[in-house]
Amino acid sequence: MRIDVVTIFPGYLAPLDEALVGRARRAGLLDVRVHDLRRWASGVHKAVDDSPYGGGPGMLMTAPVWGAALDEVTGSGVGVPRLLVPTPAGAPLTQRRAAGWASEPWLVLACGRYEGIDARVLSDAARRMPVEEVSLGDYVLAGGEVAALVVVEAVSRLVPGVLGNPASAELDSFSDGLLEAPAYTRPERWRDLDVPDVLRGGNHAAVDRWRRDRSLERTAAVRPDLLDALVARHGAAAFD
Ligand code: ADE
Repeated sequence: MRIDVVTIFPGYLAPLDEALVGRARRAGLLDVRVHDLRRWASGVHKAVDDSPYGGGPGMLMTAPVWGAALDEVTGSGVGVPRLLVPTPAGAPLTQRRAAGWASEPWLVLACGRYEGIDARVLSDAARRMPVEEVSLGDYVLAGGEVAALVVVEAVSRLVPGVLGNPASAELDSFSDGLLEAPAYTRPERWRDLDVPDVLRGGNHAAVDRWRRDRSLERTAAVRPDLLDALVARHGAAAFD
């Protein structure tokens, strides 16, 4: 899978050299390319922003700079990519959306700063490629870079071959609509705290039941909205 990230802070994306994503890149499973938006800016100041029509605080990133960048980046491969734009005004990132994007051959992430990007940039791109705005949650970050890191990591671990053990993705929190049960490893006793007996007993059915119960308990305590969503989708059968 190819992923391009366009940003005015390429250094912000340095973590993509590390850990799981870094390893997947070196293994040739992911082709990640980070581009400095200023390459497409002109003038001595290489400005990428201007004040908004209609007034209001802050600055907006301009259409000509983003247009030139996206024309070149999205025209530099085979076929058309899906353009993802992190913004608090986007639809929330979910495991389901990440899984959908993981089967795409090519994603381009456009990181906005300041008050965002001139709206015509996305209208224009949408004439040639699928475009989705994506939000990490109901809070405002200083820019799209951290959100781009999150999207790349959430998507990458679902790309076949990237995780050593693909079963770990299937057992994730959210993959069944519930939060994961707590987990333990050696030593059996630590600071007077014991690993629950059932996990050491070798009865797999009992372990599954215990994990399911803890999952439900935890979800009910911290994310009752997820339980409501499961019931809305499957009715009482959600808990069989
Ligand atoms: N950019 C600024 N805030 C954001 C958020 N909450 N999610 C995605 N991108 C953002």
